[in-house]
Amino acid sequence: MIDLSSKKALVTGSGRGIGREIALRLAQAGCDVAISDIDEQTAASTAQEIKALGRNSIAVAGDVSNSADVKSMFSAVVKEFSSLDILVNNAGITRDTLLLRMKDEDWDAVLNINLKSAFLCSREAVRPMMKARSGKIVNIASVVGLMGNAGQANYAASKAGMIGLTKTIAKEFAARSINVNAIAPGFIKTAMTDKLSDSDREKLSSAIPMQKLGSALDVSNAVLFLCSSLSDYITGQVLTVDGGLVM
Ligand SMILES: NC(=O)c1ccc[n+]([C@@H]2O[C@H](COP(=O)([O-])OP(=O)(O)OC[C@H]3O[C@@H](n4cnc5c(N)ncnc54)[C@H](O)[C@@H]3O)[C@@H](O)[C@H]2O)c1
Repeated sequence: MIDLSSKKALVTGSGRGIGREIALRLAQAGCDVAISDIDEQTAASTAQEIKALGRNSIAVAGDVSNSADVKSMFSAVVKEFSSLDILVNNAGITRDTLLLRMKDEDWDAVLNINLKSAFLCSREAVRPMMKARSGKIVNIASVVGLMGNAGQANYAASKAGMIGLTKTIAKEFAARSINVNAIAPGFIKTAMTDKLSDSDREKLSSAIPMQKLGSALDVSNAVLFLCSSLSDYITGQVLTVDGGLVM
């Protein structure tokens, strides 16, 4: 049984989808969890769900790609919790189209929200973690960052960048017992994949050795492991949660 009681976490993009499931999973293990999302309403509603589980929670609304928003988000969290043990960089978007049609704005938005956010949030999170000489950072990348995907040049680049960022921060902070790992989910049932047509979803499923899409719970279980002491000697790794798609 994984016990995270007395631990404090912040999960970005946790108003809905995979981030919400991760926040709930951490809270079920005893963690207090700050909910960060650009959508104030969904952030507040996940925070309420965490409180209903008997854990402390605050909702911090803001744009994780904006340096000033990130700074004020972290100061609110550290003020409320006095420390921070766990950061999950989960917020992400897609703006899919083929390279020739991709606008500068599509590239910038995806790189900023998916990758720059992880840099900004990690830079803030390592301060309290260095003080405590321990911490866990988990970055939610994607199998697309490992294998590419037509129509997702911006998304694939952001997720591959996140993997490079993970390994670099892992090396910089390993001696201070801060573990930094990435999870690369495959295709997971959420609002993001609900946008796919039925025929695309069927095509996808048949390419997965386990013949099905994953769930947000599958991803959150892997996050829980990487946030726990069970993974204390694991850092700089990419764990695929993808039904065997990449192997
Ligand atoms: N769904 C999948 O199949 C899949 C597969 C691989 C990786 N992922 C990754 O998992 C993560 C979560 O995906 P999801 O499917 O739950 O997506 P989602 O769209 O359901 O949730 C993303 C959340 O991030 C928030 N967000 C967006 N922009 C933000 C910003 N600028 N600042 C703060 N919050 C912001 C949204 O409001 C939303 O609550 C993403 O990083 C995604 O790339 C998803």
